[in-house]
Amino acid sequence: MTTLTGERPAILGGTPVRTTDYPAWPVWDERERDLLVGTLDAGGWWQGDGDVAAAFATAFATYHSARHGLALTNGTHTLEAALAACDVGEGDEVVVPGITFIASASAVLAVNATPVLVDVDPETLCIDPAAVEAAITPATKAVVAVHVAGAAADLDALTDLCARRGLRLVEDCAHAHGTFWRGRGVGSWGDFGSFSMQRSKLMTAGEGGVLICNDDELRERAWSYADCGRQAGEWFYHHPNYGSNLRMTEWQGAVLTAQLERFPEQNERRNTAAVALGAALDEIEGVRPQRRDERMDSQGNYCYVFHYDAEAFAGLPLRQFEAALGAEGIPMGVSYPSLNELAIFRTGNFGPRLRASAPEIDYSSVRLPVAEHAAASTVWLQHRLLLAEVEDVLDVARAVSRIQQHAAEIVSTTGSTT
Ligand SMILES: Cc1ncc(COP(=O)(O)O)c(C=O)c1O
Repeated sequence: MTTLTGERPAILGGTPVRTTDYPAWPVWDERERDLLVGTLDAGGWWQGDGDVAAAFATAFATYHSARHGLALTNGTHTLEAALAACDVGEGDEVVVPGITFIASASAVLAVNATPVLVDVDPETLCIDPAAVEAAITPATKAVVAVHVAGAAADLDALTDLCARRGLRLVEDCAHAHGTFWRGRGVGSWGDFGSFSMQRSKLMTAGEGGVLICNDDELRERAWSYADCGRQAGEWFYHHPNYGSNLRMTEWQGAVLTAQLERFPEQNERRNTAAVALGAALDEIEGVRPQRRDERMDSQGNYCYVFHYDAEAFAGLPLRQFEAALGAEGIPMGVSYPSLNELAIFRTGNFGPRLRASAPEIDYSSVRLPVAEHAAASTVWLQHRLLLAEVEDVLDVARAVSRIQQHAAEIVSTTGSTT
């Protein structure tokens, strides 16, 4: 990799490493347009009137090595339907990792169960199986394992643990379209795999979600929950179960059909770029790419994540490092706070949930040292940059080097407080 030694960082008035932007997201073309117009002309815009969304969900499930796929509204509702189908409800505990989006825990609240927050692996940032085991009580019913930024949680350990302890495993794959673990798609290992197709995700219709599974009975239960508690093959107004309306529209199915056709090539491109970027960042003291477990065949990189050690950057705080990287033209994201640090858990303000069975957990005293540290020391980059040519992707490492060379000056010019 050629470096840019000596150039002043953009945050100090130099020319940015990148003067042209990375590829935009989302990506679409005539195929999305044709499928949308086809749906319009067909007149069946509701999932019950067409077969576009359902066919997409089945194709997506097949791609991820699962038998069944349900086309639902979003990746929060997919988790809710999965937990409901696993008969998780009032009085049950569900183990959830600290590093994730709120939905991994709010879906637990949605079925009126209690989220139990546990720590993560310091290198992959995914749920730590030992922490799960330590958190199990007689009330524990399920585990939500999040594949953070597409890095797979340790599925060997988790499937073994859940089988041994009689727990349901729901894989939250909102970040992990295209992550394969020992030859099989993530989401097909647990009882359910839950995917989001929201705007920022690796394939998108603005909003959307797919729930995959292998078990016929679980599929029927999740389908019923997502379709107003109906029963397949019965009269439209026969509602034997409690359920909600979590159905995707045909419009979303049309867009996602085209997104899925394009996906394998994009996934390969992102993987090649991510591996090259990892090798380049490995050369720089004080940064360390999120660990890619060697049991993964590929990683759907929802974000590109690396650990940052301010010590190696003259004490430059993370937020200022991110600002400096952004100034170099690198598309920045940001880590989630650890769930235990969110106001909802600090205050226990669960709205209509858990009123009769207030959880015994005092969330304000829950500490997740690894997750809290990771939230304050990891850099998250937008996945769209991984669609560029590898040389362009390596500009990230060039920008990091440049900032490091001038870190002391950035600290003295902009101050060292966040
Ligand atoms: C880990 C995780 N789980 C679940 C979700 C929820 O997905 P949606 O926004 O489609 O409801 C997200 C969305 O960002 C997520 O990042």
